[in-house]
Amino acid sequence: MERTFIMVKPDGVQRGLVGEIISRFEKRGFKLVGLKLMQISRELAETHYGEHKGKPFFEGLVNFITSGPVVAMVWEGKEVIATAREMMGATNPLKAQPGTIRGTYGIDVGRNVIHGSDSPESAQREIALFFKEEELLSYDKTLDTWIY
Ligand code: TYD
Ligand code: MG
Repeated sequence: MERTFIMVKPDGVQRGLVGEIISRFEKRGFKLVGLKLMQISRELAETHYGEHKGKPFFEGLVNFITSGPVVAMVWEGKEVIATAREMMGATNPLKAQPGTIRGTYGIDVGRNVIHGSDSPESAQREIALFFKEEELLSYDKTLDTWIY
């Protein structure tokens, strides 16, 4: 079953959006298999966002993502990687569709509330960066056999 890495960024935690974001993924039918509140080190931030090293926003991005607690999560389910990206909306919240997470809660590209892996390769890499294998749980949601 497909898994993706989702993170509520420091602005989302500070603004009290953790529950709302978790709720959206639960209600969509995805399964939470890993979850932790953590403060990201500079080293982890630079590795996580390694593809953006050298870009003009990189320094600000690393400063922001390490500025306060984040909620790191792994969600599981059918096509969860692409679906999570749709649920998040465009990187720039001003361009994100209304109703998406960023389109509902953001106006600033540097404060866009949520991170989600953009491909199977990114998902695998990011999950391994943030979670140990034993921190990811397998369990049945027996009440709803048609969701994950
Ligand atoms: P990116 O991976 O392009 O977006 P996404 O989060 O949608 O996968 O960029 C990573 C983060 O970098 C993005 O969420 C916000 C920040 N960022 C800026 O601050 N300015 C920019 O111009 C871009 C492209 C991203
Ligand atoms: Mg990205």
